[in-house]
Amino acid sequence: MSAPNKQYDPVEVAVLSPEEVTGMRDAALAAIAAAGDLDELKAARLAHAGDRSPLALANAEIGALPPEARAEAGKRVGTARREVTQALATRQEVLAAQRDQWALVEEAVDVTLPWDRAPRGARHPVTTIAERLADVFVGMGYEIAEGPEVEAEWYNFDALNFPPDHPAREMQDTFFVAGPDGAGQSGVVMRTHTSPVQIRAMLTRPLPLYVVSPGKCFRSDALDATHSPIFHQIECLAVDEGLTMADLRGAINAFVEAMFGEGLRTRLRPDFFPFTEPSADVSMECHICRGASTRPGGEPCRVCRSQGWIEIAGCGMVNPKVLVACGIDPDRYSGFAFGLGIERSLMIRHGVTDIRDTLEGDVRFSRAFGMEV
Ligand code: DAH
Repeated sequence: MSAPNKQYDPVEVAVLSPEEVTGMRDAALAAIAAAGDLDELKAARLAHAGDRSPLALANAEIGALPPEARAEAGKRVGTARREVTQALATRQEVLAAQRDQWALVEEAVDVTLPWDRAPRGARHPVTTIAERLADVFVGMGYEIAEGPEVEAEWYNFDALNFPPDHPAREMQDTFFVAGPDGAGQSGVVMRTHTSPVQIRAMLTRPLPLYVVSPGKCFRSDALDATHSPIFHQIECLAVDEGLTMADLRGAINAFVEAMFGEGLRTRLRPDFFPFTEPSADVSMECHICRGASTRPGGEPCRVCRSQGWIEIAGCGMVNPKVLVACGIDPDRYSGFAFGLGIERSLMIRHGVTDIRDTLEGDVRFSRAFGMEV
């Protein structure tokens, strides 16, 4: 048994009087009742039921009372503390339920709301097709090569064997970039085709060389249903030992199958380009009438204008003069190349009759081609 507490101080333990304990309890119950949310309740719990709360301190004082007073005081404080604990638990339950209820209202998702109101963009079909074609060639071991859209005349014309007075320079309706004084010739043009990338590739890459170059081109054509001053081409170039027109034909067929479908025949007819010798234009069997020139029922085929064939590209064996301009020995190496307009291919493939649709940036046009990536 412990000895009576000699330091018993009646002033200090006065806090254990019935009024004091009731006062502490009432203050606690009032604070608990006033707590409007779980945070406030937490604060009330700390203040009125925590280790430093009046009731906890009162409880600690019980041992300091004379033995005969302890039971009574213990009971009083104990009852008050239980009431407070009980009130806390009850309030906790109410406030937690309130919070859950609130969360249900606040965070409710109205699944009946239309979800696709915000207009989404679409990839432009020219981009999609350029990437698909480039992928076909990358799959065959080609690399992608790029060149600037603002190009030196030397790359755009001279190195490609266009003589200075060659009508082709005018034929291509070139946008010439003004010189530094705002006038005169700067020797710089907006590239009129992707063929200058051939020169850049031959000058910078090791042989053998297999590259494909999609890109933007510019010509000072008036905008109408079939012409646009800005358009895209894709260029293909291979330089290796022993390449022949048979290899060129194979590459062209790979392109046609990837773009228009399997089993379409191709046809090469003599043509002229300064940078290829011999040169040819490439036609493919019309993918709609399959060369028949009429639709089932005898109607004329509008896609190929009853020709049965559609002209799609220019091609040829790289002119030895061009190889020499790029420091390549034409006795050892030969090359083939072809180039074509991406918009034109797109129009043929999808029956688009006005090239302006590809330029106007109306997302409805792009969206019709789906989201092929
Ligand atoms: N660059 C030519 C044009 O814009 C197209 C072309 C023809 C590209 C023959 C070639 C080619 O690579 O071999 O009309």
